[in-house]
Amino acid sequence: MSLNKIDKFAVIRKRIDQLVREQHEADKRCWNLELDTQIGDTITKLFSNAFKEASEFYGQTHIYISVMGNRVKKDILGSGGGWHQDTRIKPQKKWFVYLSDVDNIQRGPTQFLNIYQTIFIKFLELFCFNFGNRVNLNLSNWFCKMWGKHAVHKKGVMFSADTRLIHRGTPIEEDGFERYALTLYVYGKHTPANMTLTKIEL
Ligand SMILES: [Fe+2]
Repeated sequence: MSLNKIDKFAVIRKRIDQLVREQHEADKRCWNLELDTQIGDTITKLFSNAFKEASEFYGQTHIYISVMGNRVKKDILGSGGGWHQDTRIKPQKKWFVYLSDVDNIQRGPTQFLNIYQTIFIKFLELFCFNFGNRVNLNLSNWFCKMWGKHAVHKKGVMFSADTRLIHRGTPIEEDGFERYALTLYVYGKHTPANMTLTKIEL
């Protein structure tokens, strides 16, 4: 079989399986896949356009990144653990690629609110004195569920989102389905101290 015919997404899924073997949570994660000896080059190529978009977003010629791979199974809250914002004010954008076809809502697509809906929920939760990143109010959850737009895509389709907007990974409903995905974490000036990041010059 020629190299071009090999399904690179299947190769990445297999590598994620190897890397998360020792973890026992239903949402298993591995980090810094851009540095991985087996799939690092493929990952870097896959995200090359996203690196350019990210440098424009942050207005810098260099960015700091980590590519996270995860495998999510049925019977948990979904990737990310329920409705939340990654940051509330600081600019934060992420790029995503599913490694399995997440082409219907039973397969746990990411679900996003828009800016107006996000502001409404934050306003609603202000009355409960909830100033955190997580959505806690049952009523808010109900609105989020109704309003959230599902990012339904085949494997390999890249999409991005401002993760200041309220979002979640929808809980998987399809029996036996495993949702594999890559997420590109990118930072400009303000890098979190608890992450190992790779500097990319553009
Ligand atoms: Fe998130």
